[in-house]
Amino acid sequence: MRVVSKIDEVRSIIEDAKKNNLLIGFVPTMGFLHKGHLSLVAESKKHTQFQVMSIFVNKIQFNNMNDYNTYPRDLENDFDLAEKNGVDLIFLPDDDEMYGNHLTTVHLDRLTDNLCGACRPGHFDGVFTVVSKLFNIIQPHVAVFGQKDIQQAVSIQKMVYDLNFPVKIIMGPIIREDSGLAMSSRNKHLSREKREDALVIYKGLKRAEQLLLNGERDSKIIINEIEKIILKGRPDKIDYISAVRFSDLSFLDTIGEKAVIAVAAFFGDTRLIDNMVIEYERGRIKCVF
Ligand code: PAJ
Repeated sequence: MRVVSKIDEVRSIIEDAKKNNLLIGFVPTMGFLHKGHLSLVAESKKHTQFQVMSIFVNKIQFNNMNDYNTYPRDLENDFDLAEKNGVDLIFLPDDDEMYGNHLTTVHLDRLTDNLCGACRPGHFDGVFTVVSKLFNIIQPHVAVFGQKDIQQAVSIQKMVYDLNFPVKIIMGPIIREDSGLAMSSRNKHLSREKREDALVIYKGLKRAEQLLLNGERDSKIIINEIEKIILKGRPDKIDYISAVRFSDLSFLDTIGEKAVIAVAAFFGDTRLIDNMVIEYERGRIKCVF
């Protein structure tokens, strides 16, 4: 596995891989890797032969500087995990390499109006800008994003379509702790007590699944039930509990098409997000966590 920090170096290594007829898979990350990130590499390996991962804590997508400053970092462990999981190349740029004298922003309308887009001003502009740059630097055939950040994954799919990036986007499932808690680099900040409390998010989504399987389709009723359960964990703040269309992430009063129920809540200073996708299989509803 090679680790490089310069754009020119990445480009020349990838050019060589392409000359050898290898398809390039790409997993962008902010590091502090866990099984969620590694599952995306495994997914990428199903479709491509040369795995690139970027590790870059992208300052411009943080709407809270304390969150940026305390974002967990452990590069040695990241390199170790990446290598063991078949990453061929890590791109590890610094701020200057990515943003020296930078004036351009990539903005997407509508899909970022709700959910995290509404609660974290500027966040998605930062994400789309960095992901566009990374796509242009790496020029992968396939890039894999997690369902965990569903608004990010759906919006990037739209950005790729709108801006004609020649890359196929794949969404990988949410990897969870045995307890049900969705894995996240930020979980490191949770005290043992808050980690326990935070299980109400998963429990709330499970309750929603049960209601849906029993025939409930009214978003308000489902959201109220989730809220009741989440409140039992004494969250410090609930940012949102929302039902939205999968296609454009607009709010949905009645669940009658492919949809997402998404949650964001603070436990202590730690903001956690989670969701489930509601699909239909031969007319039957199916919740994908
Ligand atoms: P980061 O939070 O490091 O996540 C990198 C990728 O891992 C994202 O696609 C995210 O959805 C996925 N991921 C995180 N937790 C997961 C889990 N429990 N199961 C499955 N996948 C999971 O998302 C970002 O970084 C940044 O916004 C980035 C795209 C790198 C741009 O800076």
